[in-house]
Amino acid sequence: MEIGLLSFFVFLIVVSASIRTSVSQSTTCNGILVTYNYTGGREVTPTDPANQPYRFESTLTVQNNGLDELKSWQVFIGFQHDEILVSADTAILADGTSLPARVGNGTTLAGFPDGDLETAVETAGDLNHMQAVVQLVGTQFKVTPPNIPLPANITLMNEGYSCPNNYTMQGNTTMEICCNRSSSLGSNPTSNKFLPRQKGDLIIMYDVTRVYDTNYFAQVTISNHNPLGRLENWMLSWEWARDEFIYSMKGAYPYVVDTSECVFGEQGKYYKELDFSQAMNCERNPAIVDLPLEKANDTNLGLVPSCCRNGTLLPPSMDLEKSVSAFQMQVFKMPPDLNRSEIVPPHSWRINGTMSSTYECGSPVPVSPSQFPSSLGLPSKTSAISSWQVVCNITRPQPPPKCCVSFSAFYNDSVIPCNTCACGCANVPSNTCSASAPALLLEPPTLLLPSENRTEKALAWAELKRRPVPDPLPCWDNCGVSINWHLLSDYRNGWTARLTIFNWGDTPFPDWYTAVQLDQAGPGFEEAYSFNGSLLSSQNNTIFMKGLSGQAYILAETDGKNPKKDPRIPGTQQSVILFTKKTTPNINIVHGDGFPTKVTFNGEECAIPTILPSNIGYKMRSAGGFSIFLSIMLIFLS
Ligand SMILES: *[C@@H]1O[C@H](CO)[C@@H](O)[C@H](O)[C@H]1NC(C)=O
Ligand SMILES: *[C@@H]1O[C@H](CO)[C@@H](O)[C@H](O)[C@H]1NC(C)=O
Ligand SMILES: *[C@@H]1O[C@H](CO)[C@@H](O)[C@H](O)[C@H]1NC(C)=O
Ligand SMILES: *[C@@H]1O[C@H](CO)[C@@H](O)[C@H](O)[C@H]1NC(C)=O
Ligand SMILES: *[C@@H]1O[C@H](CO)[C@@H](O)[C@H](O)[C@H]1NC(C)=O
Ligand SMILES: *[C@@H]1O[C@H](CO)[C@@H](O)[C@H](O)[C@H]1NC(C)=O
Ligand SMILES: *[C@@H]1O[C@H](CO)[C@@H](O)[C@H](O)[C@H]1NC(C)=O
Ligand SMILES: *[C@@H]1O[C@H](CO)[C@@H](O)[C@H](O)[C@H]1NC(C)=O
Ligand SMILES: *[C@@H]1O[C@H](CO)[C@@H](O)[C@H](O)[C@H]1NC(C)=O
Ligand SMILES: *[C@@H]1O[C@H](CO)[C@@H](O)[C@H](O)[C@H]1NC(C)=O
Ligand SMILES: *[C@@H]1O[C@H](CO)[C@@H](O)[C@H](O)[C@H]1NC(C)=O
Ligand SMILES: *[C@@H]1O[C@H](CO)[C@@H](O)[C@H](O)[C@H]1NC(C)=O
Repeated sequence: MEIGLLSFFVFLIVVSASIRTSVSQSTTCNGILVTYNYTGGREVTPTDPANQPYRFESTLTVQNNGLDELKSWQVFIGFQHDEILVSADTAILADGTSLPARVGNGTTLAGFPDGDLETAVETAGDLNHMQAVVQLVGTQFKVTPPNIPLPANITLMNEGYSCPNNYTMQGNTTMEICCNRSSSLGSNPTSNKFLPRQKGDLIIMYDVTRVYDTNYFAQVTISNHNPLGRLENWMLSWEWARDEFIYSMKGAYPYVVDTSECVFGEQGKYYKELDFSQAMNCERNPAIVDLPLEKANDTNLGLVPSCCRNGTLLPPSMDLEKSVSAFQMQVFKMPPDLNRSEIVPPHSWRINGTMSSTYECGSPVPVSPSQFPSSLGLPSKTSAISSWQVVCNITRPQPPPKCCVSFSAFYNDSVIPCNTCACGCANVPSNTCSASAPALLLEPPTLLLPSENRTEKALAWAELKRRPVPDPLPCWDNCGVSINWHLLSDYRNGWTARLTIFNWGDTPFPDWYTAVQLDQAGPGFEEAYSFNGSLLSSQNNTIFMKGLSGQAYILAETDGKNPKKDPRIPGTQQSVILFTKKTTPNINIVHGDGFPTKVTFNGEECAIPTILPSNIGYKMRSAGGFSIFLSIMLIFLS
């Protein structure tokens, strides 16, 4: 049965191959010719009829037959047989994953270290400069040789090129596709010697500042461009492509200072005279961490602009200066790269931090050399010798929330508390509470109590309101930070809300910030009285708020006045926020437009209630509403 199916499959391949076979486009293609040629394969151990692995070898060729230089070629290969790519000389995976890697869902390869393909016109048809040939070796699990495990498709990913939907076959092992430059993209792109710099959440620049035959100096600059992103204790790592090693570093430090790999390795053999006891790190994948504040002025380790902040990267809207971290290092190279022009940037960049989202970094792309202010204090600029850019974007899913939101409103005397287990219930013994029951509605003052002291009040409130109580009771939210959003007033021309942040944890929050997204009502934001608030320039429905100077700090939870009797007290910050309806005339505050759809604290998204306070029986009284607002303002200002 299985053999029958298989031979039917082979028959299909042969038929479709013979249909698609045509004259090679190597001479007729006037764009970029991408070729994938399967060159061989065999069974490898272990013998496992259920999931037999096979080696495959193939050649990817990217040839520039056009009139424009192709910068940093990138080709998608639609692998479809559970492939594991083991090696790809002269290319890397564009998403920064290091090899071997599972690529069974397809992957994009990028030319590395040199991904630029010149034109035949510029090189008088020199194939060495106009084509890239990548030998691919890997393992696949689906196709028994001599059948041919071809990918589902291949395509050129570079912007400005369009490829046909389908490939053509050359014989039965070679897929071919010819991609043209889209005419929409201007006619003279050759004048740009470099690729344009890209945008992203986090940008890492690798700037080479001084070069010698055997070594060079590089400056690495990490800049945060996400309006809400934040990293604490960042840790950066990469992979050296050519056995380089780090001799010295200023402004940051390798997580592991270890040169044993060099001393006993090729590096030690080549650099016999070098004092390796002074060297920093010889790992192929070094991890780098920031230096503490105290080292900022250390003549040996510090004195690099934007260095030494214990790994904190704030969003630019918080503090432009603190959104950048930089360090410098001296890198030693190995043969055959021993001349000044031979510099290969490290690849497979990764960055993470405590309390932060997950980032995924692309491959290094050569860009126009960065300019630095003159180190001599002159009003001139120094240019880097060469520069590479690595773009890192935040990827979902984010870690489980560490903060949550409760909703309340002037027209309802119950608070919708944070969701049950909003920040997880992993550490809560089962049977003591229900992780699935909806949270109990609360009386507003109960929000000021730590969760462990709320039960009694919550039960009393449920009884008073004649609401059923599940058994076992729902678990609490277990969040270190909770935020209450209270609708204060709604009148004809505007409305107000009050935001309160509670810190239930043991650590204070310096430089805190929060962002509130109101899908419809956001553009009406006017003022946050006790915070420094503004609409994000990139999203007019998101209000960014931080403490006024002197209040950029939320205290930790502390003991009550009489710890034996009084519950513990959270650190808090609070402000009333004023909105106008002029720009958003059709909103309905009490029907939902007055409640945020997304709230973040220090860059992390908070869990939001799934229901809104009920407004049954509430009717907006325009005059009355305004007088309520006035009296609240008077209380607030007094
Ligand atoms: C594919 O590779 C094989 C083996 O190296 C070679 O004989 C063949 O000519 C190649 N096919 C094409 C179309 O380049
Ligand atoms: C391929 O995609 C499927 C579905 O998205 C996913 O479950 C699987 O893990 C992916 N495989 C690889 C090798 O990435
Ligand atoms: C591929 O083509 C060659 C000759 O054209 C033929 O001998 C071979 O059987 C074919 N292989 C497959 C798997 O179809
Ligand atoms: C390649 O083929 C796969 C599966 O047939 C498809 O999901 C994917 O969109 C294709 N990719 C491109 C770039 O054509
Ligand atoms: C590329 O250009 C050639 C002629 O210049 C044309 O025949 C071919 O259809 C074009 N292909 C695509 C995908 O636009
Ligand atoms: C490509 O062409 C082959 C036959 O020529 C066809 O079987 C296949 O479905 C096509 N693929 C796409 C994505 O159009
Ligand atoms: C990162 O995100 C930006 C948009 O924010 C996008 O333009 C860019 O292509 C992304 N880069 C990668 C490597 O995903
Ligand atoms: C480093 O020196 C600068 C200028 O002299 C000074 O402003 C700064 O406070 C010093 N930093 C530390 C951590 O000592
Ligand atoms: C620096 O970060 C470490 C954690 O890596 C922390 O223990 C230390 O307190 C921080 N130092 C300062 C000055 O914030
Ligand atoms: C960051 O990544 C390194 C390994 O690359 C790991 O050891 C470390 O625990 C990670 N840090 C965080 C906060 O996830
Ligand atoms: C609050 O809860 C803690 C832990 O359960 C308990 O030790 C303390 O006595 C409670 N305080 C009050 C005032 O109920
Ligand atoms: C807010 O931005 C959206 C799109 O970004 C735009 O359509 C809308 O008019 C803007 N609203 C105001 C009040 O500026």
